[in-house]
Amino acid sequence: MTAKELRRLYLDFFTQHGHAQTPSSSLIPDNDPSVLFTTAGMHPLVPYLLGEKHPGGKRLCDCQKCLRTDDIDEVGDSCHLTFFEMLGNWSFGDYFKRESIVLSHEFLTKVLKIPQEKISISVFAGEGDIPADEESPAIWESLGYPKERIHAFGKKENFWSMAGAGPCGPDTEIFYDTGKEPCGADCSPACSCGKYIEIWNNVFLEYNRDSEGKVTPLAVKNVDTGLGLERVLCLLNNKETVFETELFAPVLEEISALSGQKYEDNKRTFRIISDHLRAAVFILGDDKAVAPSNVDQGYVLRRLIRRAYRYLSNLNAPDEATVSIAKKIVELYGEDYPELVRNSEFIYEKLEKETKAFRKALAHGLKKAEKFLANLPKGGTLSAEKAFKLYDTFGFPVEFTQELCAERGFGVDMEGFRELFAQHQAKSRQGAAQKFKGGLADSGEMTTKLHTATHLLGAALRRVLGEDVFQRGSNITPERLRFDFSFDRKMTPEEIAETEKIVNDAIAQKLPVNCSEMSVEEARVGGAIGVFGDRYGERVKIYTIEGISNEICGGPHVDNTGELGKFVIKKESASSAGVRRIKAVLE
Ligand code: ALA
Repeated sequence: MTAKELRRLYLDFFTQHGHAQTPSSSLIPDNDPSVLFTTAGMHPLVPYLLGEKHPGGKRLCDCQKCLRTDDIDEVGDSCHLTFFEMLGNWSFGDYFKRESIVLSHEFLTKVLKIPQEKISISVFAGEGDIPADEESPAIWESLGYPKERIHAFGKKENFWSMAGAGPCGPDTEIFYDTGKEPCGADCSPACSCGKYIEIWNNVFLEYNRDSEGKVTPLAVKNVDTGLGLERVLCLLNNKETVFETELFAPVLEEISALSGQKYEDNKRTFRIISDHLRAAVFILGDDKAVAPSNVDQGYVLRRLIRRAYRYLSNLNAPDEATVSIAKKIVELYGEDYPELVRNSEFIYEKLEKETKAFRKALAHGLKKAEKFLANLPKGGTLSAEKAFKLYDTFGFPVEFTQELCAERGFGVDMEGFRELFAQHQAKSRQGAAQKFKGGLADSGEMTTKLHTATHLLGAALRRVLGEDVFQRGSNITPERLRFDFSFDRKMTPEEIAETEKIVNDAIAQKLPVNCSEMSVEEARVGGAIGVFGDRYGERVKIYTIEGISNEICGGPHVDNTGELGKFVIKKESASSAGVRRIKAVLE
């Protein structure tokens, strides 16, 4: 089976069962500073899981581009991926546990024809103040799954929540039993020995967790599921790992052709290169136009490209290899993700530039490393601080430093390095938690106001700077809005003042903010602004501020512009080539 067929089978099955199919959202979340990337299919749907009405109705399905950065440094084993595709189906207060489980069971055993005896299940055993899920195991049993293959675990395994605040709940996970020998007496789906592969997670989102961690029941009970496309493709085609599937095989061949080395002899290296460059291509290829930088998404992108490049150099591949491999990836995915083709020049240009910049940094880093090593006694050990400096400042993976040292008979204080690394990670996590309050799960008063102010700002900029100005990104915290738009020079103080004035006039006029639903075609004909790209046929919500703005948007918004207060632009600066950034507040 091909990936294309698998996507089609899934979406057709759920469409036949009354689900509206929606397109994949961007990899870069809109209006949500709490995460850098879309990490699950449910993420763009948070407002609807919290009660906003979705124009597609109460049942949805899609195939969502996802990216998880938790284990960039661990990628290289048989199943971890940075970028992946998640097939998902949702019920917003419509069906719940029984229908969700029955649908999954039917899709796996009837459509994909996976033998039922190969499937194992986990359910929530209850923990703390959240009671056990007794319904799910009973439903699985009624479908013919024996008790011994239904395992109950606590929160760590079977209670799903987003990284920050947001909808959460117990889940039931579906595992494929590879048939390998159990690794011990207590081998179970919770174990990571590789016998059981998690393929689908059905989450019963019946609670909401606020930013203080307090969990309260939601007014409606939702279902959120996620099926890992690459993993299922792998098992349906009897491949040993996801890297042997058609989604990677041509990329591995390309790496082989470029380097003259074999995958069989360099599995980990080949996997890292192909995973990282695939993720990089999808970030660069997103319409949000993220480029490598030292902050946020740009920094993750930079790490991915540099790590891939480092491993390519280990294979003695030429510098152009990053771009050649990216071309292969665009070829593989272009039909299903046309944005990659649309943005291919941007992808190749940024990759090439970043590769060059890194080569320079590497040369500097090598000089520094030489200095460190020159001062070491024969057979000595490089200190953890120095190894960390090479990692942190020059982007040297520690394995690289180890190799460099080993060549000259030196060691590296790895224990100390791991400690520093853990401290560093803990700090950046804390920083991220501090920095990223708010998010899509926050429909608090201030974020809602700033959301409406963003529409007014977009409209005002188009009046002042011209109709070619389009939103390239938006990010809202309770403190401020941040708006990226296409424009190729600094705004003059007069233009900034004029923009502020248009927004403040609209506020002074106390204009109603109206919401209506229509098809994308109607929205387009009506002159609405928004991402039309691949949304053909879908129903959308339009927020209208009469005479000012008419925009496709999920909401939420205030009812009247009079609620906003005074709008002030704090900063206008460059974001990337051809994109400017405004930070503004409501006082
Ligand atoms: N949101 C759930 C997950 O990511 C389905 O596992």
